[in-house]
Amino acid sequence: MSKIIIAIDGYSSCGKSSTAKVVAAHLGYGYIDTGAMYRAVSLYFHQHYVSLTNPKEIQHALQQIQISFQFNPEKRLNETYLNGLCVEDEIRKMYISQMVSEVSAVVDVRRAMVAQQQRMGKHKGVVMDGRDIGTVVFPSAELKIFMTADPIIRAERRQAELLEKGELISFDEILENLRSRDYIDTHRSEGPLRQADDAIVLDNSFLTFDEQVELILNWADTRI
Ligand code: C5P
Repeated sequence: MSKIIIAIDGYSSCGKSSTAKVVAAHLGYGYIDTGAMYRAVSLYFHQHYVSLTNPKEIQHALQQIQISFQFNPEKRLNETYLNGLCVEDEIRKMYISQMVSEVSAVVDVRRAMVAQQQRMGKHKGVVMDGRDIGTVVFPSAELKIFMTADPIIRAERRQAELLEKGELISFDEILENLRSRDYIDTHRSEGPLRQADDAIVLDNSFLTFDEQVELILNWADTRI
């Protein structure tokens, strides 16, 4: 059986990561959360006061950053590591969500992350989710999905997710954050979020989680 690349792109908080994780597990594929990589860069920039208007500082910082993923068998999930330290919880916090799209719009940041993502997926057999996977990182991915959902539904899901982790954030703040990230992500010059011409649109506003996983597995089946 041949191995393929499954690219899942789409708006913020559409459930791309949770879906991608389960699809990867079903297929015995690796899962790469590219949003986590941009979040880890944002955390480093925050910790080291890197100015987004200073290209030299950005270049220097990018040379210091090493991002990796390690499987945590207890939690049964891949955790994000920044320079050897687990940052999985920290990078999901609201202050990172509030800065990550600005950081991700920096051309040098994107080039560094895209190069690493291409190395990670070069042997195929991966499900990668993000904003530019089907358009920039792997334009020849065998299966491309563009995921979307109603912003109100996305904000409700995100609020529940944050609450589960003990972060109580108002609905309006979350909705505003989603809208502003979507705006920056779709309007940046380098690797903007857009639907690849050959992507399948998956609006999951009214689908259950299991229904959308099944749809993707069926599409994957026809391409493997
Ligand atoms: O997927 P997640 O919402 O965690 O991603 C956080 C942010 O990282 C996005 O809002 C976007 O600005 C950025 N991102 C990106 N390109 C990717 C993945 C994420 O610009 N491939």
